[in-house]
Amino acid sequence: MTRPNPVVAIDGPAGAGKSTVARAVARALGYTLVDTGSLYRAVALVAQRRGVNWSDREAVERVALDAVASGALRLGRGDGGTTRVLVDGEDPKDAIRTPELSMGASAVSAYPGVRAALLDAQRAFGADGAVVLEGRDIGTVVFPDAELKVYLTASDEVRARRRYDELRAKGVEASYEATLDDVRTRDQQDATRAIAPLRRADDAVLVDSSAMDPDAVIAHIVSLVRARAR
Ligand code: DC
Repeated sequence: MTRPNPVVAIDGPAGAGKSTVARAVARALGYTLVDTGSLYRAVALVAQRRGVNWSDREAVERVALDAVASGALRLGRGDGGTTRVLVDGEDPKDAIRTPELSMGASAVSAYPGVRAALLDAQRAFGADGAVVLEGRDIGTVVFPDAELKVYLTASDEVRARRRYDELRAKGVEASYEATLDDVRTRDQQDATRAIAPLRRADDAVLVDSSAMDPDAVIAHIVSLVRARAR
């Protein structure tokens, strides 16, 4: 291992608490945070803006490649050790967080050309370590040699409840039942796609957050990183 500092991979299904936990772990350790889902969301947004249907695999793959090559889609440094995705030179913020874009991101993330287009950007940010990447395939594909892999999960109902509360807090119209349906549909799509499906890496530590509060999950992961960083 030639990296001076650890790469921490946090994978798991939608709504397991990955974003909150990854952000807090990165902050506690002074590491850079990379939210890789934002890249797939950005591809869905770029496709939509260019009038390309998410179900049109070849066109979406072309859009993704072009957008990365031209810099229309890129990953930049944000405030305080964060990264942020830039689309057409701007941070799309909540425009990529709607239920519609969540489904779009899940759809476009199944395309091999999209995943390939986003790989280098993710690896470039992690190359020197001291980074927390959260996603679905960090421990299995992007950084199979990560010093720490965590597979963070929770029951469907708990994940749907969290996602629903989050949407409502942002003022997004949603129902719990529809959110639960969305969570299950996305899990199904993410876990059954042919390429880089959501699955726990053999050497990932399993953390079930159903009955844990976020602080306990964060403290647990920070202690796992410290034990490996020595
Ligand atoms: O984590 P998120 O909800 O922002 O992710 C949006 C979608 O992107 C999700 O449905 C699956 C996909 N994704 C992926 O395939 N691989 C990743 N590393 C991160 C996200």
